Amino acid sequence: MGAIPSEVAQRAVALREQIAYHNHRYYVLDAPEIPDVEYDRLFRDLQELEAQYPSLVTADSPTQRVGGRVLERFAPVRHALPMLSIRTETDSGPAGARNFDARVRRELGLLDDAPPVEYAAELKFDGLAINLRYDRGVLVQAATRGDGETGEDVTQNVRTVGSVPLRLRGVEAPVLEVRGEIYMRRDAFDRLNARQREAGEKTFVNPRNVAAGSIRQLDPAIAARRPLSFFAYGLGAVQGWSVPSTHSAILDALQAAGLPVCGERAVVQGADGLVAFHERIAAQRDALPFDIDGVVYKVNELALQQRLGFVTREPKWAVAHKYPAQEQLTVVRAIDIQVGRTGKLTPVAKLEPVFVGGVTVTNATLHNEDEVRRKDVRVGDTVIVRRAGDVIPEVVGVMLERRPADAGAPFDLHGQLHGRCPECGSAIAREEGAADWHCSGGLYCPAQRKNAILHFAGRRAMDIEGLGEKLVDQLVDGGLVHDVADLYALQAGQFAALERMGEKSAQNLIDAIDQSRGTTLARFLFALGIPEVGEATAAALAAYFGTLEVLQQAAADYGRALAQSDDETAAARARRLKDQTLQQVPDVGPEVAERIASFFAEPHNLTVIARLRDAGVEWPEVKVERGAQPLAGKTFVLTGTLESLSRDQAKEKLQALGAKVAGSVSKKTDYVVAGAEAGSKLAKAEELGVPVLDEEALERLIQDSKFKIQD
Ligand code: IVH
Repeated sequence: MGAIPSEVAQRAVALREQIAYHNHRYYVLDAPEIPDVEYDRLFRDLQELEAQYPSLVTADSPTQRVGGRVLERFAPVRHALPMLSIRTETDSGPAGARNFDARVRRELGLLDDAPPVEYAAELKFDGLAINLRYDRGVLVQAATRGDGETGEDVTQNVRTVGSVPLRLRGVEAPVLEVRGEIYMRRDAFDRLNARQREAGEKTFVNPRNVAAGSIRQLDPAIAARRPLSFFAYGLGAVQGWSVPSTHSAILDALQAAGLPVCGERAVVQGADGLVAFHERIAAQRDALPFDIDGVVYKVNELALQQRLGFVTREPKWAVAHKYPAQEQLTVVRAIDIQVGRTGKLTPVAKLEPVFVGGVTVTNATLHNEDEVRRKDVRVGDTVIVRRAGDVIPEVVGVMLERRPADAGAPFDLHGQLHGRCPECGSAIAREEGAADWHCSGGLYCPAQRKNAILHFAGRRAMDIEGLGEKLVDQLVDGGLVHDVADLYALQAGQFAALERMGEKSAQNLIDAIDQSRGTTLARFLFALGIPEVGEATAAALAAYFGTLEVLQQAAADYGRALAQSDDETAAARARRLKDQTLQQVPDVGPEVAERIASFFAEPHNLTVIARLRDAGVEWPEVKVERGAQPLAGKTFVLTGTLESLSRDQAKEKLQALGAKVAGSVSKKTDYVVAGAEAGSKLAKAEELGVPVLDEEALERLIQDSKFKIQD
């Protein structure tokens, strides 16, 4: 092999230093100075140099982070200094901290009036312990804790962790072992799971499990794809490095050497200081970017640590003070389906009661059907339940290895409910491509009752003044009103029984209800509370169909078209549905059309509507603008090939709206519609300054002129 030119060697050193510097800015300080492409360029330059001169490659070269070989097994590593475990305070209240301080003081023989002991307080990271061995500042080995005496050599995988420096700054000591925790940030975990979900792969249960699993992958390429992080929290064996005299100063020194040390730490005095730290971190726990399961207290003075010593495998100078666990195992007794206030159907696991996150949990959400299937939760399964902060408890995963032989069948929401809402027996529906099933009996379903009434009475709907949340609660809870039609049967006398309701306000409300009888079709449609049908859509429907009956007819047609399952592609089906009248209405896409169809297909809703009309709810006839020829007097010329419709179809559509379609362009032409390969007519239009529409603009013009909102 030829000698390496000295300028090449120097360039390699310079590149390595730059890359290490930017790596530290990015992974450890979270404050990058250069854009990623710039970093990638430096990296590629170094890779090219090393490819050209392989003897340039060093153990601490950033190019060596990835690309290790697939191993058969991990080699055992005997720890130079055993990796100890740490005693845990079982009392998760302030007593935990006070007990520890009292023990320390007793062991040190301190009298009651002696000054408080100084402690280093830090977080207890929820990942896995790692020993990093640096020889003359270069990372040479990373090992798991194992049984404390002997761990496994996971160097290849740990090299892929961006925040682990491959070379320390200003450390030339023959040996410096750094101990700390490999973990995964929550955002990285969420992204990883989103990726798994997209790829149709199994999602991971929690960041701790992925971190531990990734470090123990025999194929380093897999570890490299899992974004892991590292925090240093202590030392292992040391030779030739002057160890500072306190734990907090050790962490400062490690930080100065380029290692990531968590900023959430403090030096505190005595038990009060520990308690305050424990409480402060508890309040922050859910907002941290990573999981912790407690805090760790360490006597700060190394001299005192030495005096305290060890019992069995635990130092007497340190303790873990835990928080209530946020995850527990329990058994699924049943999977119920709950109906929300909007009609959304949510599968809920009924659990063997379990104490988690500070409360006893008996229910946990399973979000939706796809989620249950993806996690494959079945009755009888042992599951991991998580309750973090005020978030509703959720089932994060199944312990498949504990599934009993008589576990339930795979989850099938529609099958379990026989297609009926468990609250009201209305049909359940799920739009194509949507995640949630819902009850389509919005006007009738007791679960949706209060919502439906409030919405119905709203200012932009039926506008019943004075019918607010508190009153609706009382009317429904008192059994006076079951659905919106019952409102019109209320008598002033019935209100007397209600709280805080004088005779005068009772009469006012009766009057307001009475007045709401005279409305408009648009308001009425909006008041029905059909999901996805807002004010504008309701107005568009009213203007387009003119009467409720015509709209109902179109909804029924749409339902039939939905049910028809031809042997067709998804695109062909979508096109077929798009031709349905309902989808001709501006603002109404396939999801909205499906919602409208299932709403009017539900007999319960129709009964309530009929009762409303019997009670005298009415509206003036809407003059349909469709025949009104909004394009009357306008002259169009069509040229070129249109994509979505033939020239004849376009002509028909324009004529139906009153436009004249001419054969040649003149000064009298209002618009030229130009498709592909338009020729001389387009040129002429441009010459005369006649506006030219493409196909999309034509579509828009047609839609816009089809209706005018009436109120
Ligand atoms: S110190 C002699 N500090 O908790 C004390 N450990 O048994 C040795 N851990 O799995 C440990 N955060 O990985 C220490 N700030 C921290 C820690 C911490 C998490 C883990 C450690 C080990 C367990 C201790």
